[in-house]
Amino acid sequence: MSPTAPLTTVPVRHYLQFSDLSAEEYAHLFARAAEIKRKFKAYEKYHPLADRTLAMIFEKASTRTRVSFEAGMYQLGGSVVHLTTGDSQLGRAEPIEDSARVISRMTDLVMIRTYGQDKIEKFAQYSRVPVINGLTNEFHPCQILADIFTYIEHRGSIQGKVVAWVGDGNNMANTWLQAAELLGFTVHLSTPSGYEVDQAVAGLRSSASYKVFKDPQDACQGADLVTTDVWTSMGFEAENEARKKAFADWCVDTDMMQVAQPDALFMHCLPAHRGEEVSAEVIDGPQSVVWDEAENRMHVQKALMEFLLLGRVSA
Ligand code: CP
Ligand code: NVA
Repeated sequence: MSPTAPLTTVPVRHYLQFSDLSAEEYAHLFARAAEIKRKFKAYEKYHPLADRTLAMIFEKASTRTRVSFEAGMYQLGGSVVHLTTGDSQLGRAEPIEDSARVISRMTDLVMIRTYGQDKIEKFAQYSRVPVINGLTNEFHPCQILADIFTYIEHRGSIQGKVVAWVGDGNNMANTWLQAAELLGFTVHLSTPSGYEVDQAVAGLRSSASYKVFKDPQDACQGADLVTTDVWTSMGFEAENEARKKAFADWCVDTDMMQVAQPDALFMHCLPAHRGEEVSAEVIDGPQSVVWDEAENRMHVQKALMEFLLLGRVSA
C-alpha cells in the first residue's frame, strides 16, 4: 500500500443531511439498528469496528450526542477522540480544510457538531473518511434517524402518517421535512410568525410533503406524532427574550395532544424546558416516548457507523 493511501476500503460516503441516504438505505439502517439494539440488550459482543477510531468535534454543548457516539463506538470495538473548539487548534483559526486533512489521516470516521452547514460541508470536502453531522444550525439528521426508528418500534411504518411540528423552523424542523419527502409522510408545520421554515435552506424539492398552520392546535389535529423543540436553539441565545414572547402559544399541552390521534406519540429531541415548548403533563405523560427516543440515538448511530465504514452488513 502506498504510504499516502487512505485507510478506508469502502467508498467514502458522508452523512451531512437526511437526504444523503435513500429510502432503501434507511430501511437497511432501521433493520440493522434493531439487530444491533438486540445484541446490546443481550450483552452479545459485537466488535466489527475493532481498531477503528471516531473523531468527535464539538463546537457546541452536548449530552446525548456525545454519550451516544462515544458509548456506541466503544461497544462496536472501536475508540474515540474527543475535540472541542476550546481545547484544539480549531478554536485558534486553523483552516477547516487543514484540520480535515489532518484529522482524517489519523481516524476512520469524523462526527462534527458545529454552526453553519457550510463548515461541515467544507470539512467533508477535504476529509478522506466519512463525516457525520452531529447537529448544525440547519440540520440534525442523527436525531431524526432515531426519532423515526422510535416511531417504527412503537407504531410500525411512518409512511402515510402525519407528524405535527410545533415550534421553531429550525434544524429539527428542516430535517423532519427532508425525511417526510424521502420516506413518504406529511409534516403539519406550525411556527410563530418570523420563525418559519425556509424551503430552500431545508433543501426540499417541493412543498408537497408539508402543510403550514397558523394555529399550533390545528397542526396537531389528527396527527400520529406530535413533536417540538426548544424555543431558542444553541447559537441563538441573544434572541432569547424576543423568542420567549413570540413562542408563548407554541407549548405542546394536553389540549394539543387531545386533538391528535388517540394513540399519537409525543417526541422531543431534548434537552426540554417544561412549561415552555412542552408542558410537564405531556413530556412526562403516557404518550411521551422521549427516553426511548434518546436511547435510540445510540442504536441507530451504531448502525450508521457500521454502514459508513463496512457497507451493508447482513449478519
Ligand atoms: N438531542 C441532542 O442532540 O441532545 P444533545 O444536545 O444533548 O446532544
Ligand atoms: N434545535 C436545538 C436542538 C438541540 C439538540 C439546537 O440546535 O440547539
